[in-house]
Amino acid sequence: MNILWDPDPSAIERYRFALGPDTQALDSSGMVTRAIHDNTQVEQVIIGSDVPLDQACQLAEGARLERPELGVILLRTRVDVTALSQALRAGVREVVSADDHTAIAEALRRSRDLTSRLIGHASGGTVREGRVVTVFSAKGGVGKTTLSTNTAVHLAHSGLKTLLVDLDLSFGDVAISLQLVPAQSVFDAVSMSGNLDDQALASIVVTHEESGLHVLCAPNDPGDADRIPVPTITEILKVARRSYDYVIVDTPPSFTEHVLAAVDLSDSLILIATLDIPAVKNLRVAIDTLDMIGSPKDSRIIVLNRADAKVGLRAEDVEAAIKAPIAVNIPNSLTVPASVNRGVAIVLDEPKAPVATSIKELVDSHIRVARADDTPAGLNGSADGATPSARKSLFRGRK
Ligand SMILES: Nc1ncnc2c1ncn2[C@@H]1O[C@H](COP(=O)(O)OP(=O)(O)OP(=O)(O)O)[C@@H](O)[C@H]1O
Ligand SMILES: [Mg+2]
Repeated sequence: MNILWDPDPSAIERYRFALGPDTQALDSSGMVTRAIHDNTQVEQVIIGSDVPLDQACQLAEGARLERPELGVILLRTRVDVTALSQALRAGVREVVSADDHTAIAEALRRSRDLTSRLIGHASGGTVREGRVVTVFSAKGGVGKTTLSTNTAVHLAHSGLKTLLVDLDLSFGDVAISLQLVPAQSVFDAVSMSGNLDDQALASIVVTHEESGLHVLCAPNDPGDADRIPVPTITEILKVARRSYDYVIVDTPPSFTEHVLAAVDLSDSLILIATLDIPAVKNLRVAIDTLDMIGSPKDSRIIVLNRADAKVGLRAEDVEAAIKAPIAVNIPNSLTVPASVNRGVAIVLDEPKAPVATSIKELVDSHIRVARADDTPAGLNGSADGATPSARKSLFRGRK
């Protein structure tokens, strides 16, 4: 997590987008020092522009001795050479203009990268973490749930330990799409917040018997969504990626705080386009937003769903509009709603159907390829292999 040290209580809102949801605001040097000392989850401290340079340097010097892996980033209204050299000498990692939110997000990403490499080095680099893949589109009804359920079922059916998390917390339909009757949901993690571990997580998932996929379903009551704190989602995903090879996240059609938390921890982001102008426009806006918050372009996989619909717009038009290549085209097919209505995954029910083969191509060529050591946990007997430094988070290596 990050700490923003700023005497101005409204600063957290100003920097919210650049710093991400996992940020706590503190207004005094004493509180920041205590947090660094007491809370090992704190990885980055961002010092606001109103904090005097001497105090900022003092904190950086102290932190360098006590927590060498901690990143300290200093925001200044004017970045001059004197402040820069004094800050860097004290151990500040980066000095960034307080007005440039993109630069702040990028500095934070670089700093997290370094922190996770330092932590990985200190722990011998033996902890393997699963990959988190978030399926997102800013427009509803484009195929997020279809794609996330079938992607997750295919991974699980291939022998990889996989969890599907339904983050469409108010209107999630993963359970109904897979004919699951969950006794528990994401909401049950709230009471365990702060103490969630792999066993606690295992107690609230439901198994899709046909594939072995584990599913953490959305709450039954749409009103519960607002009662799920963002840090609970972060905690679920951090615990999940330690115990699963793949964690697939289905999302609602908007950048909620919960979605941002998932994006923040994701290694890959599947963005869905369809051949209609509003969907393309929304995808462009989503891509701009992701650029703004410093999410790396190479983590994005653009999928064109219902790619062969004859509606006057072509795949090339979409690529030109979003200025990014389409990785996989998924055809339009009546077998999709038919399988959803029967509560079966098309990759299992009709594995040779063009829709199923293109979803499997997406998984095998674009999701699994990113991980060279992708052996089913059941085959190598453990989930060990990749070092934390080998992980590629969208915002880089948050723990
Ligand atoms: N390739 C396809 N061919 C035909 N129908 C499809 C295809 N992909 C999705 N659909 C249908 O489109 C509808 C919406 O799909 P889905 O529920 O996966 O979208 P979504 O993005 O999750 O929607 P929401 O934003 O409401 O959660 C469903 O009825 C589904 O069966
Ligand atoms: Mg959906």
